[in-house]
Amino acid sequence: MKKNDSNIKKAIKYLNNNECIAIPTETVYGLAGNAYSDKAVSRVYKLKKRPRSNPLIAHYYSINNLKKDCEIDNTFIKLYKKFCPGPISFVLKLKKKSRISKIITNNSNSVAVRFPSHPLARKLLKKINYPLAAPSANISTSISPVSKKDVVDEFGPKLKFVLDGGSSKIGLESTIINLIGKPNILRFGGINSKLIYKLINSLENKKKKKIKIKVPGTSKLHYSPGIPVRLNAKKNYQNEAYILIKKRKKLDKNYFYISRTGNLKQAAKNLYKTLRIVKKNGYKKIAIEKIPNINIGEAINDRILRASKK
Ligand code: TXA
Ligand code: MG
Repeated sequence: MKKNDSNIKKAIKYLNNNECIAIPTETVYGLAGNAYSDKAVSRVYKLKKRPRSNPLIAHYYSINNLKKDCEIDNTFIKLYKKFCPGPISFVLKLKKKSRISKIITNNSNSVAVRFPSHPLARKLLKKINYPLAAPSANISTSISPVSKKDVVDEFGPKLKFVLDGGSSKIGLESTIINLIGKPNILRFGGINSKLIYKLINSLENKKKKKIKIKVPGTSKLHYSPGIPVRLNAKKNYQNEAYILIKKRKKLDKNYFYISRTGNLKQAAKNLYKTLRIVKKNGYKKIAIEKIPNINIGEAINDRILRASKK
């Protein structure tokens, strides 16, 4: 506990100096900088090798802090009350007097925001008077990190500080919903899309127009382990790592199970870690067993589908 407090102090010192650091969240680790500071967010882009055309999510402690920067409506409040803090991000309109750096919005009039639930992230956010711009703490296009070790693997000594919050509980990124115009889900993630639509369908005026929003970071090539991935594999070929949803009685040395019993939450938590291990072990190809497309299986399938694209 004491150690956490002194690490949070250290984290704040770096952030106040416009440095970027890694922070734990319940989804994946983030590479964080002061979202009001051009200097800090430029450093995030540079270290992550992220193209400037790809916007970042601003992380807030609560709705009170957010109100200064973004326009909110009833649908947002309903979703906020039900799912926040938690693994959901919202694309909202910026207020004219918003202090959010134009860099993280790619000069547009909207921004993605999120309220992470990880206790250390919340403790940190509560103590600073600016939101944190934080993409996943990996080099652009590679696999998101779910532990301090993964972050260190990505950046080595180039990153000055990682706030260690253990391994991320969910293990996949947040669900992103666009709330400008007719609400629509832009990225599957920690909260199942059906739960979200169930809540908002009753509220929404059906006539609202769907506004097209680009999500640059979900294009092909993202979430890539850097080696070919074959989906819905009923068996593995020689030298292929075989990722199984459920442990089997007879295990081959090339088998990697992401859950003991086929539990999808556990599978989500273990997916990125397992992809990293497979790559480290020198495999040149990956086969993945069919994953049920229900609950968080929806987000798992989304990520492995992207990982399978060349
Ligand atoms: O769980 C998460 O969301 C993690 C943790 C660290 O919070 N963050 C995360 O950030 O996954 P990132 O940058 O790796 O992925 C954010 C995605 C990208 O695909 C980006 O293109 C999209 O969100 N995005 C960000 N701002 C946006 C905006 N204003 N409009 C549309 N898409 C946006
Ligand atoms: Mg990312």
